[in-house]
Formats: sequence, structure tokens, C-alpha cells
Amino acid sequence: MDYFHYKSGALHAEGVPVASIAEAVGTPFYCYSASSMEQNFKDFEIGLSDLPATICYAIKANSNLAVIKTLANMGAGADVVSSGELTRALKAGIPAKKIVFSGVGKTSSELAQAIKADILQINVESVAELETLNEIANNLSRKTQIALRVNPDIDAHTHEKISTGRSEDKFGLEWSKINKIYNYCLKFKNIEMTGLAIHIGSQLTELEPFRAAFARIKDIATKLRSNGCDISRIDLGGGLGISYDSTPAPSFGNYGKVAKDIFGNFDCELLFEPGRSIVGRSGILVTRVIHKKKGGNQNFVIIDAAMNDLIRPALYDAIHEIVPVLQKSQTKNIEEVSIVGPVCETGDTFMNKVKLPIINAQDLLAICSAGAYGSVMSSTYNSRPLIPEVMVKGDDFSIVRERITPDVYLNFEKLPDWIQ
Ligand code: LLP
Repeated sequence: MDYFHYKSGALHAEGVPVASIAEAVGTPFYCYSASSMEQNFKDFEIGLSDLPATICYAIKANSNLAVIKTLANMGAGADVVSSGELTRALKAGIPAKKIVFSGVGKTSSELAQAIKADILQINVESVAELETLNEIANNLSRKTQIALRVNPDIDAHTHEKISTGRSEDKFGLEWSKINKIYNYCLKFKNIEMTGLAIHIGSQLTELEPFRAAFARIKDIATKLRSNGCDISRIDLGGGLGISYDSTPAPSFGNYGKVAKDIFGNFDCELLFEPGRSIVGRSGILVTRVIHKKKGGNQNFVIIDAAMNDLIRPALYDAIHEIVPVLQKSQTKNIEEVSIVGPVCETGDTFMNKVKLPIINAQDLLAICSAGAYGSVMSSTYNSRPLIPEVMVKGDDFSIVRERITPDVYLNFEKLPDWIQ
């Protein structure tokens, strides 16, 4: 675990004992290490050294303002997919000219917001979007820079639900039609074409799909250039996976090498949109065991975090390693357990029948690698609170989002007149 380590048997986030944060904040909560995010960002940059690259952090992975600001201070740009994310990126101080707007269904008001903010580029995913965008830009008497998002029809070999670059996926424009669409775009007066974009999926643990997708987009760009089109920028998306359990993930260096192999001499600005690889291993979800229970043929450990706090295991069958916050001396005593949350669904299971050192009621546990697609995907299902987020830096920690309790969001609900 990056920047999460044991000191005298106690799990620490950087210099802070996780148990002391639990004492102050209550469980469950997300705990982020700022230094881990900074280090990952630096390593990503080093992996791309010698390339004319801008790293646009994919805000969707973790959109907490303190997280965005931490990365903005490192020089990050942003990849946003909604009005809300654009607002956050700007609020965190990311320069507009380092922001890319992606997404398959941007609304007219989102497009107008992006044009008015004068962001770097909008990645267009359909001809209909292109036409709408030109019209909006025209009404605003503005010109806007765009890239065409290409669907390269490449299988990323990742989970079905987060694969985005196959022809059957909803994303991008068919690669074989790009030449035609590019030429069609040239007639729009309020649109300035800068180049192409791809993103083939998330949590890629192999480099070959990246190589194949990069090669395909370079091919298309080369043909466009030979037809006289100006390709000054290519957005290579995000997707680099992390190690959640024992499956290794490619290094930043080897990923960068693939980009260099293909675009080393291409004379084109490159954008990258990493999310998970920057923040995933920089966060844990800290939870307390409510109690234990024996079922028909298994032992349940019931924790106070649930699928509404971290939905990845329920949604993608994701495995997040779970470790004790305080290691016990008698670690030889092993028990087979299933670790489950309190939500009323069998899918609310974090670990199914795993052998772990004995866990007792009231023990604190850390669910690892929860910094990406954790808090951002949480909900209030079962009328549970949205849990706090804490950021650690060195020996300090700070609550970067308070717990949002049911009585707060209950205030937004109203009874219609006809119900007494
Ligand atoms: N760029 C675009 C256009 C994207 O759609 C995404 C992620 C990224 C960049 C960042 O990808 P990353 O580097 O984080 O892999 N909720 C899922 C992941 C969904 C990813 C969606 N798109 C999960 O928990 O695994």
C-alpha cells in the first residue's frame, strides 16, 4: 500500500495512526494520502518525460476538492465529464486551458458552459453533438477547439462494464469513418479541429491494448495529415490499471514507453487522462466490525461500511484487499470468513469466504485501494449517510468532506399537498 504502512503493528497513513483518525472522525470514512497522490502524479510525469505531454487528471475518479487542488498544485490539468466536474476543476484552480471535456452525452448547457469557460478542448463523440456544438458556439459568437473521439474497436481486456473502445460500446466515432467526419467538420465556422482522442477502458492490466489503440489512432492521424488536415493534439485517454490484490499492474515507465514507441517522433501535443492510477492506491476505506455471526456454512464479519459507500465489489466483482488497522500478535489463528456490510442485499459483500487472521467485533479494518471510484460512486441507499473523507499529509490530517447525515438530505424532501 502506497504511503499506508504499519509502525509497531499500527496502520499509519503517512505519519498518522489510522486508529487515531477513526477515534476523531468515527467510522466508516475514506482516508487519502496526499503525498501518495503527488508521488503517483510525479511518477506518471517521469514515465512520459521527453514527450510533449499534458496530464489531465480524470476528475471522475475522485472529485473531492482537496484531491483536485493537490493535483492542480502539481501542475495537473483535468478531464471532466459534466458541468459539476468542470465547476470543481475551475474552483480547484485548474487553468481552463488545461481542461478537456469528454463524455458521450453532453447537454447543450454543459457545452455552453465549456465554451464560455474557454477550456482547452471538447472531445466530440457524435455528429449530432458536433452540429449542436457549432450552433451553440455560433450563438455565443465564439470559436471552440475540438477533438474527435475515435472508437478504435479494440478490446481492452478489462471488466465488461468498463470497456469503452469496442465497436459495440457507446463511445466515440467509428474509426473507419473518421476521415469523412473530419472533412465534414471543416465546414463548421465556429469549430476548430485540433485532433483526435481515444479512451478504450479502465483498469487495464495489460499494455498491448494500449499499444494497439495508440497505433490505430496514429495511423488515422497520419492519413488525415497526408490529406492536408492539421493534427496538432492527440488525447490518449486514461485507463492504466492498478494492483488491487496479487494481479500486478504495468508500471508508469512501461506505459510511457508504449506511448514513446508510437508517438516519440510524431510532432504532436499529447494529452493523458489518468484517474485510478493517480488516486486509487492513495486511499483506504476505514471501517469497524459491528459484530460477527455464524450462518449456515460460513462465518460473517459484519462491518459498518457497505455497498453504498464502496460499490465496486457489488458492481464489478472487484476485490479490495482488507487489512487490520491494528495487527494482533496471535496472527497464526486463521478463520474463514465473509466480510459483509449492513445493507439489505446479498451483493453487499466485500470478501467471500477468505481465510484471514481472526477478526473480532469492534476491530478496525482498512479496505485498501479505495481512493478511486470509491466516494464518488457512493449513495445514500438504505438512508445511510454519505461518509466523511479525510486527507492526510505528513503528520497532519484534515476532514475534507464532512459526513452528510440523513436528516440533512431529508430536508430536501417535501410532501405534496394531497398527502395529509
Ligand atoms: N478518460 C475518460 C474519457 C474516461 O471515461 C475515463 C474513465 C478516464 C479517462 C479515467 O480512466 P482511469 O485512468 O481512471 O482508468 N467506476 C469504474 C471505472 C469507470 C471508468 C470510467 N471512465 C470502476 O470503479 O472501476
